Amino acid sequence: MHRMTQGATRRVLGIETSCDETSAAVVSGSPEEMTLESCVILSQDVHRLFGGVVPEIASRQHLVGIVPAVEAALREAGVTMDDCDAVAVTHAPGLVGALLVGTSFAKSFAFAHGKPLVPVHHLEGHLFATMLEQTDAAPPFTALLVSGGHTLLLDVPEWGHYALLGQTRDDAVGEAFDKVAKLLGLPYPGGRPIEELAATAASPAHGHPHRFARPMLRKSAQPGDDDYYDCSFSGLKTAVLHAVRNAERSGTLDAERASIARGFQDAVIETLVEKTVRAARQFRRTRVVLGGGVACNRALQDAMRAAMERRQGTVHAPTPRLATDNAAMIAAAGIFRLARGEFGAPDLTATASLPLPGLRRAG
Ligand code: KG4
Ligand code: ZN
Repeated sequence: MHRMTQGATRRVLGIETSCDETSAAVVSGSPEEMTLESCVILSQDVHRLFGGVVPEIASRQHLVGIVPAVEAALREAGVTMDDCDAVAVTHAPGLVGALLVGTSFAKSFAFAHGKPLVPVHHLEGHLFATMLEQTDAAPPFTALLVSGGHTLLLDVPEWGHYALLGQTRDDAVGEAFDKVAKLLGLPYPGGRPIEELAATAASPAHGHPHRFARPMLRKSAQPGDDDYYDCSFSGLKTAVLHAVRNAERSGTLDAERASIARGFQDAVIETLVEKTVRAARQFRRTRVVLGGGVACNRALQDAMRAAMERRQGTVHAPTPRLATDNAAMIAAAGIFRLARGEFGAPDLTATASLPLPGLRRAG
């Protein structure tokens, strides 16, 4: 490991293959200010046929897509590897077989070009994504990471220091959207179809949408209580299942589908917004940064904005391209880790589950 001067400008090729997106991107700049030069995302639509990601198919598709993705990212940025200072790659967490394609490729590619290899934690990538579009999305902030695999509430006083406030006890938020979508007969991934369907339902003030209990949302909860920040979505999913069965029995599912979707989404959003605002309040943060695929949800963004505006705060959400898995966020986190001298791990391997570097459980 070598030291590099903080603030120096670097150009990094990022590679991401942790799930079902084969992605490569070029980002340049310093940890304080970065420019997105290119971002290529090959989404593996094949998994839609199976209603979920099939790990072996994902690995094989990464193998097919990785070289074209890297070539396209360099071409779009108008650079070659000679112009790049390092290769950053997601090494954890994710599907091991999928991660292995990216890490093996990145290791060989960096070695062949004589460039440092920077291992990046996928979730740290999600934290950096929004900053590529909005320079204000920098620490200190409260972060809500909501994807198909993760639901994390973090306090981020500075890059590299992450206090874990809460997480899900069972299903990740995106997973709950996907499972509820399946119950409602909607396609996979289910987040967007649920959001679109929910938007067609009558608002609680004008109709009778289903109202589901808010998971772990005790108004009297205090900081330090287990349920103050943690979430749980499997009970909500079961409540939706019962509502769907009842509607099927009475032959009214078609009429009730939108209302059920709306009731589910409202319960999720109210829970996430309340917990995030609690965190911003406790740590006196005025910025909230959203990340992960569920951050694409406009109703969630709007509700979070309304809640934070009441506290004179702001909400930064990435555009869909950078909210879902992409290599630009990996290159961005790579620039930060490179500046800290964290590169050149010849024994780098892929790891299915690993805590964020710099993570501590907030007391
Ligand atoms: O971050 P991501 O692309 O992949 C990982 O899981 O890492 O997140 C995918 C998840 C899926 O569960 C999908 O249903 C959800 O994000 N999602 C949404 C929306 N768009 C994608 N959930 C709610 N509303 C959306 N508009
Ligand atoms: Zn992700």
